[in-house]
Amino acid sequence: MKLAGKTVLITGAASGIGRAQALLMAEEGAQIIAADINQVGLDALIDEIKEKGGEAFGYKTEVSDSQQVKALVQAGLEKYGKIDILCNTAGIFDHFAPTLDITEEQWQKFFDVNVKGVFLLTNTVLPGMLERGKGVIINVASIAGLTAGPGGAAYISSKHAVVGYTKQLCLDYADKGIRVNAIAPGTILTALNRQGIENEPDALAKRLELIPAKRLGDPQDIANLTLFLASDDADFIHGAVISSDGGRFAKG
Ligand code: NAI
Repeated sequence: MKLAGKTVLITGAASGIGRAQALLMAEEGAQIIAADINQVGLDALIDEIKEKGGEAFGYKTEVSDSQQVKALVQAGLEKYGKIDILCNTAGIFDHFAPTLDITEEQWQKFFDVNVKGVFLLTNTVLPGMLERGKGVIINVASIAGLTAGPGGAAYISSKHAVVGYTKQLCLDYADKGIRVNAIAPGTILTALNRQGIENEPDALAKRLELIPAKRLGDPQDIANLTLFLASDDADFIHGAVISSDGGRFAKG
């Protein structure tokens, strides 16, 4: 078990990538604090983890609300005493909307959830990690944080911000025992994009054309990389942005 005795806080845990991360890390011995706005999804996740003999609890949380984030972290600390690993996974997608189609309120929402949420979780969990001199933070960015194209104006901008934030956290805290990295998934089939892929006739073929491996990603692909980054096997990996995208980013 790669994460025996560890506690992991995962946002966006009710669905897709976050759910796969929670299930895998629970199987690897971690206690899971699962956060999401979707209570029904959280309940289903917690039931599944417990049925498999794991340990977890769910806490309904809006990641862009500092009071809710504080309450989440406090509840996690009361239950498990520490948070070793933070996975900032919650995020929303803009379905490729160009800037002129985005209102000021929509722009703000993308930055509140995709960027401010990562900041609030980090600033609330990091002090405890610094006190213990050890911690791992994994931000789920996107290849949309590295290049334009795999999203619209708001999504691309917000994910570039997550990549920049990840690198700065590395510079500020790597010598204090904190490892901060980002994952840049390519197209992973989840609730976030399923409608766009399944409803548009050529959408799947068009996406596969861009992916050298000729398949969409599965949430498990990202969970596997998360487990590696969370474990001591990745001890010298700091400030990296690692793609898991079937070669999509290599293609340009
Ligand atoms: P998903 O839609 O299946 O899961 C996202 C989860 O985040 C949902 O459970 C949702 O309820 C939760 N969430 C959304 N807004 C929230 C908020 N304000 N507070 C708390 N929870 C909130 O999507 P998926 O694909 O699993 O996405 C996870 C992360 O992966 C996101 O950050 C996304 O941008 C990123 N990503 C996904 C890719 C894909 O192709 N699916 C590609 C690249 C990155």
